[in-house]
Amino acid sequence: MKDINMNIKRIADEVSALARTTGAYLKAEQQSLQRGEIELKGTRNYVTYIDKEAERRLVEGLSFILPEASFLTEEETVHYEEREYSWIIDPLDGTTNYVHGDCPYSVSIALMRESQTLLGVVFDPVADQLFVATGEGEATLNGSPLQVSRQESLTNAYIGFGIPYSLDIQGEIILANAMKQFQHCSFRIKGSAALEICYVAAGVSDGYFHSGLSPWDVAAGAFILQCAGGRCSDFSDGENYLFGREMVATNGKIHQEIMQTIIKIA
Ligand code: IPD
Ligand code: CA
Ligand code: CA
Repeated sequence: MKDINMNIKRIADEVSALARTTGAYLKAEQQSLQRGEIELKGTRNYVTYIDKEAERRLVEGLSFILPEASFLTEEETVHYEEREYSWIIDPLDGTTNYVHGDCPYSVSIALMRESQTLLGVVFDPVADQLFVATGEGEATLNGSPLQVSRQESLTNAYIGFGIPYSLDIQGEIILANAMKQFQHCSFRIKGSAALEICYVAAGVSDGYFHSGLSPWDVAAGAFILQCAGGRCSDFSDGENYLFGREMVATNGKIHQEIMQTIIKIA
């Protein structure tokens, strides 16, 4: 632990370089992706050989950086094992945008020591934006410090939102949530949870909420946001946002107001 903490900046640099090369692979490959190469995991839930190949490259690179760590990955190209250190990775967050030739999309990597996050890296290869965090006050975008917005109220706030793949089951409640808050806010759906949480960290947006997310969608972004001075919680203002499939991410100042308006999914 001591060694990894002492070396976290070096590890962050190596992981950042890996995120950049993987992102460059995604960007290059998007140009040549053919319709027949797009698969469906479920209704509206896309996957391609590119998601899997990017994950394979990340697992190989991260294994080299920290051989003792295990992996929790979206595409399950490697089996999860319980170990002291683990990487939580999404090789391509924003696949729906990606398969339609759209953006943004990102590479998302978090390093955990048991349930504590030590490092978060999110890279958008189209915008060339690299978000990195290694601890409190140590969150950057392309090397410059990140700071959350000063927005104090939901009225006129700029809020990110996402529609889960399970919309058919929970759609009414999810859209009711959005509509309730939409009355006072400007709303955007950008399609990459990892990046949308980083936008809160960067002070671009004031908040973000989404149900139905997985740990690889949120682990890196949540840590980056917290290190930039923002707040994450589940829909009940608790800490279960990593595995609990509910995420509210804010600049901290509008968190309570969102809590008062959000509708909890039973
Ligand atoms: C998805 C994106 C999207 C969110 C979905 C996620 P994927 O991840 O983060 O913004 O709305 O719920 O599953 O499938 O593109 O890796
Ligand atoms: Ca994802
Ligand atoms: Ca993904």
